[in-house]
Amino acid sequence: MSEHAHDAVEVITTKRDGASLSESQIDWVVDAYTRGAVADEQMAALAMAILLNGMERREISDWTAAMIASGERMDFSMLTRPTADKHSTGGVGDKITLPLAPLVAACGVAVPQLSGRGLGHTGGTLDKLESIPGWRADLTNAAMLAQLEDVGAVICAAGDGLAPADKKLYALRDVTGTVEAVPLIASSIMSKKIAEGTGALVLDVKVGAGAFMKDVDRARELAEVMVALGTDAGVRTVALLTDMETPLGRTAGNAIEVAESVEVLGGGGPADVVELTLALAREMLTAAGATDVDPADKLADGSAMDVWRRMIAAQGGDPDAELPVARESHVVTAEAAGVLTRLDAMAVGMAAWRLGAGRARKEDPVQAGAGVRWHVRPGEAVAAGDPLFTLLTDTPERFDRALAALDGGYEIAAPGSSYDPRPLVLDRIG
Ligand code: URA
Repeated sequence: MSEHAHDAVEVITTKRDGASLSESQIDWVVDAYTRGAVADEQMAALAMAILLNGMERREISDWTAAMIASGERMDFSMLTRPTADKHSTGGVGDKITLPLAPLVAACGVAVPQLSGRGLGHTGGTLDKLESIPGWRADLTNAAMLAQLEDVGAVICAAGDGLAPADKKLYALRDVTGTVEAVPLIASSIMSKKIAEGTGALVLDVKVGAGAFMKDVDRARELAEVMVALGTDAGVRTVALLTDMETPLGRTAGNAIEVAESVEVLGGGGPADVVELTLALAREMLTAAGATDVDPADKLADGSAMDVWRRMIAAQGGDPDAELPVARESHVVTAEAAGVLTRLDAMAVGMAAWRLGAGRARKEDPVQAGAGVRWHVRPGEAVAAGDPLFTLLTDTPERFDRALAALDGGYEIAAPGSSYDPRPLVLDRIG
């Protein structure tokens, strides 16, 4: 397309005034932004216009295609096994990728899992794995392919060549209040997944206090758009809407979430983490056409754990190494006996973040040992003085702000109060 086919102000005002962008406008603006010919402030204005006025399905599809075209496409078709990937829209205590990737690989389906680092209150899979001594997130495409063929699972950072338009746009959205737009989230996630070249994709769309999508209708809309984008691109795509009102498991942080994942791979671990890992594994196996294996068997017989160990070692990590432990801890106890009836995922995520488990800016380091352990899950009873939370950090001056984040983030009702649990899997699209 000609350099001068459009100009940024024309594209911005089209969307500002509520009209649809043409394919040609979209191709031009995404390409020009990636090359630096459209300025950050112009793309920020366009992102805000998209957030406020929305996009039709056709526009979202064109926008996604333009982001894919901004970089390379990977190809796993030479592998001897089918491939399936999972993407979560981000939650608190969401360590599911860690047990899931080796579990699905143990069932005969290769898992090319390109993951990210955490930003804001949701944790990042790579930050968690980097707490394992020696483990490296950066692999060349050739090393990734070799590991997929040999071990069957790889969790690594997406290379700079994959959807570079999204990398630039995501960083911009993060600082301009334009993350929460369905067209922009859907195209961001799906451009990376389609460019990655997986054969099947299972989306875990989080709903609730700790998720981007607070209500189920918006989450369903996001899931439907993403499933349509994947299906149109030839990727067998399904989505589960899953609860993120309450954080997953009993830990939010980095090393502590790795430890909890290893418990799951060892046949134990919190019931909700096991349930969601198995539900997503079954969807991935079905989408990849491998319906003759029950993933529960592969957890029970230790083969998922074997793949985990090989997967960690293949990326330089020592699966037997002691995980880092935070230097300081602070325990919050129950003032009175009762039943925990609410544990707000956002409050827990903010507390973990403020303790040093997450980062405020992309370039900040994270503390491997920092985070929050909750000793009680909704529906469980406590006695006065029982521990509710253990806060972990290397920098104790962070405790006050973490405690402030937890304040009001949980409720203990009178002893014997009833508790009506929300199902973990709320819906399935696809
Ligand atoms: N994850 C992404 O990759 N992109 C978004 O826009 C939101 C979550």
